[in-house]
Amino acid sequence: MGKRQVLVTGGAGYIGAHTAVELHAAGYEVIIADNFSNSSPGVLEGIERITGVKPVFHRIDCADRSQMVTLFKEYPGIEAVIHFAAFKSVGESVLNPLAYYRNNLLSMINLLGEMSVRERGGCIVFSSSCTVYGQPAPEHLPVSEEAPLQVAASPYGRTKQICEDILSDTVKASEGKLKAISLRYFNPVGAHPSAYIGELPGGVPQNLLPFVTQTAAGLRECLNIFGSDYNTPDGTCIRDYIYVCDLAKAHIKALERMTSVASGTGENMEYFNLGTGKGLSVMEVVKGFVAATGVDVPYKITGRRAGDVEQVWADPSKANRELGWRADTPMDQVYRSAWEWEKRIRNL
Ligand code: UD1
Repeated sequence: MGKRQVLVTGGAGYIGAHTAVELHAAGYEVIIADNFSNSSPGVLEGIERITGVKPVFHRIDCADRSQMVTLFKEYPGIEAVIHFAAFKSVGESVLNPLAYYRNNLLSMINLLGEMSVRERGGCIVFSSSCTVYGQPAPEHLPVSEEAPLQVAASPYGRTKQICEDILSDTVKASEGKLKAISLRYFNPVGAHPSAYIGELPGGVPQNLLPFVTQTAAGLRECLNIFGSDYNTPDGTCIRDYIYVCDLAKAHIKALERMTSVASGTGENMEYFNLGTGKGLSVMEVVKGFVAATGVDVPYKITGRRAGDVEQVWADPSKANRELGWRADTPMDQVYRSAWEWEKRIRNL
């Protein structure tokens, strides 16, 4: 029997690339579809250096239906799809909502269109986000899957909510042919221990850890901490930072759950929160990074960033229990991995 084929859309992206590596390690044949809109061919080389195998790659825009039709024709054996391909900048989505709706929704619709018309159906893992919960009420912290969803604070967040709805409606209509798991990520950070792949933001980093590592590397003068007057112990926002390799492994667990005949959960669409269960403040992250790496990170406190939620962290017990998965890499190791990656790409 040949290897089981898994299509990874957005597989040249940050989480996609780390997941492609884990899929390879778990014995799957990985087919990557990516249009390099926020990544580059160098990522594929990084994957190859780690796995020793050149990933099958197609430069494809998933939002273009004809390209997806061709891809599925070429690979009728695809058993499952992990769907990462999407735009992900909150701020950009506010400025250019149509680009977000067009790209994120059409990609999902095209993918499900192709999966639905196949006799064999298939399994889908969707890359969702804790943003669907907004700022949870205090009684919902840490956030479990039962917490109410709230009106999204950005078009980006809304695309995640709408995609989850599109997915669940389509799974329902497929009468058992399709199965799906939506993984709601908290804040993915860090890089592969080899330092061959990691997070590489284009332009000025929007996310915290890339800004921290670029400041440590001297590319940025100073980290701006967005607000220290929040209702948290040290006044800075709290998030659940999860190591990207731990996160990547959860995708394999999700696939196994859907494809194993024995599991028989009865639910064809499921949702899982992926986090560590521990919240860290911005200040704790900065101090933790400095302690773990011994490298200084100059910072100053500036005003709040529009649209930031004050505090959110996961109750990952459903994923721990049902997927048999846990994010347990110590944070100092995570910080060091991010720093090793930054040093490698800057030749430091
Ligand atoms: C947000 C979304 C997340 C989404 C992600 C995509 C929420 C809760 N989270 O993550 O769902 O997938 O964007 O990019 O809506 N910070 C600074 N200085 C910086 C950068 C960040 O102080 O230069 C602070 C932020 O104010 C925040 C924390 O660091 O408190 C984390 O920020 P970031 O890494 O951007 O992630 P989120 O905003 O949590």
